[in-house]
Amino acid sequence: MKKHKAWKGRFKKETSPLMEKFNSSIKFDQRLYREDIEGSIAYAEALKKANVINQKERNLIINGLNEIKEEFDKGRFIISTTDEDIHMAVERRLIEKIGSSGKKLHTGRSRNDQVATDTRLFIKKAGQDVISDLAKLQEIIIKISEIEIKTIVPGYTHLKQAQPVLLSHYFMSLFWAVERDKERLKNCIKRTGVLPLGSGALSGTSFEIDRKLLSELLDFNAISENSIDAVSDRDFIVEFISACGIIMIHLSRYAEDFIIWSSDEFGYIEIDDAFATGSSMLPQKKNPDSLELIRGKTARVLGNLLSVMTLLKGLPLTYCKDLQEDKEPLFDTVDTLSICVKIFTGVLNTLKINHSRIESGFNEYMIASDLSDYLVKKGMPFRKSHEVIAKLIRYADEKNIPLSEISIEKYKKFSELFKKDIYEVINIKKSVESKKTSGSTSTKSVKKQIASAKRRLKI
Ligand code: ARG
Repeated sequence: MKKHKAWKGRFKKETSPLMEKFNSSIKFDQRLYREDIEGSIAYAEALKKANVINQKERNLIINGLNEIKEEFDKGRFIISTTDEDIHMAVERRLIEKIGSSGKKLHTGRSRNDQVATDTRLFIKKAGQDVISDLAKLQEIIIKISEIEIKTIVPGYTHLKQAQPVLLSHYFMSLFWAVERDKERLKNCIKRTGVLPLGSGALSGTSFEIDRKLLSELLDFNAISENSIDAVSDRDFIVEFISACGIIMIHLSRYAEDFIIWSSDEFGYIEIDDAFATGSSMLPQKKNPDSLELIRGKTARVLGNLLSVMTLLKGLPLTYCKDLQEDKEPLFDTVDTLSICVKIFTGVLNTLKINHSRIESGFNEYMIASDLSDYLVKKGMPFRKSHEVIAKLIRYADEKNIPLSEISIEKYKKFSELFKKDIYEVINIKKSVESKKTSGSTSTKSVKKQIASAKRRLKI
C-alpha cells in the first residue's frame, strides 16, 4: 500500500525506507508539540479573520488541536511512520479527527515559517526557565555570603595566594556573573520574540493573514520585517546557546575552584555526600563528581554552539533541510544547562566550609602589597616600595623568618621609612578591612554589595 504523505502528489515512486528514517525528525522535534499546537491555534484565528475558514471550521480546528495536545500531554499520541516531523504529525492527526476542515489549516503557511515560530516559542519559554533557576542560585549565593561574612580566604592569581579576601566576596563574584547571564538571556529572549509566522515558504502569502493578531496571540513583541530573513534566520538559536555556553563556562570555572578547594591538599571545603560519589575500588574516596560533570558538560554545550554555527556557515538562503539539525543541539543545551544549574545550586547550598584548614594554609606574604602601600603612605613612590618589599620578602624567605619577627632595626635597613607601626600592618584581617574602594573586599563594602544584590533580586 502506498503510504500517505502530504507532499506525495509530485512523486511517482515510494521513498526509500532508509531515506524516510534519515529525513525524519519526529523522534526529537515532537518536543515542540506544545509550541506547534499553540502556533496552529493562533494561525486558525488568523485564517478565520482572513475568511479562509468560517467560524464552524475554526471551532473544529481549535477543538481538534486542543484534543491532540491532550493526547500528547497524556502520552497517548500515536506517531505514524509517515509523520516526518511534528508539524506533519499534528496536521495528519487533525485531518484524521475532523476531516476536510483540517486540510485548510496549512493555507498560506509553510513548515518554514512554522518551524521558525515553534523554535522561537520554545526558546522564549526555555530562556525564562533558565532565568528562574539562575535566580534561585543567586539566592543561595547571597545566603552563604551572609553566613560566611567573617571568613577570610586567600584570593588567588596564577593559583598562588595573592591577597586575602572575604569568602563572601569570592562567592558574591559569582552573583554578578550570574546577573550578567540573566541579562544576556533577557536580551536574547527579546530578540527571539520576533514573529516569523505569515512569511510562508519564503515570500509571504497571498491570504490576508493578520500578523499583528498572530503576534499578540503568541505573545511576540514584534513582527519580522522581511519574509526571507524570517525563514532563514537562526541567529536566535546561536545567541541562546551562546548565552547558555557562557553560563556553563561560569559554572565550570567555579566548579574547578571548588574541586581544587575540596582536594586533600587544600581541604577548604567538603562537598556534601548528596553531591559526591565513591570509587568502586578505593574505599576511602569521596569524589566531587557533581562538579567534575559540570566542568565536563560545559564541553557539550560549547560543542552544541559550534555545531549550530557551523551548520549556518555557508548555508544558502532561505530554508534548507540542514536547518533541521539545529534542534538536537538546542534541546541538548537546554537539558544539560538546566540540570547543571540545579546541581551546582545544590552543591553550594550544602557545602561545608572548613574554617581551620583555610586559616592554617594562609601564606603571610599575602599582605606584601599592604607593606608596599605602607611605604607609599609614608612618601615612597610605589615602584620603589615594590622593590623594597620584594627584597624584604626574599630576605624573610631565605632566612625563614615570619615578617612579624623581623626586628625594627632590620626593617630600617630596607627603608628608613619603616616605623614600629609596621607590625600592625602584618595582619590578614586588617589587610582585608583596609580596602577602601567600592566593590572591594572590606566587610563594609561586601555588606553593601550584598544589599545591592538583594535589591536586584527584590528580596
Ligand atoms: N522538520 C523541518 C525542520 O525542522 C521542518 C521544516 C521543513 N520544511 C521543508 N520545506 N522541508 O527544519
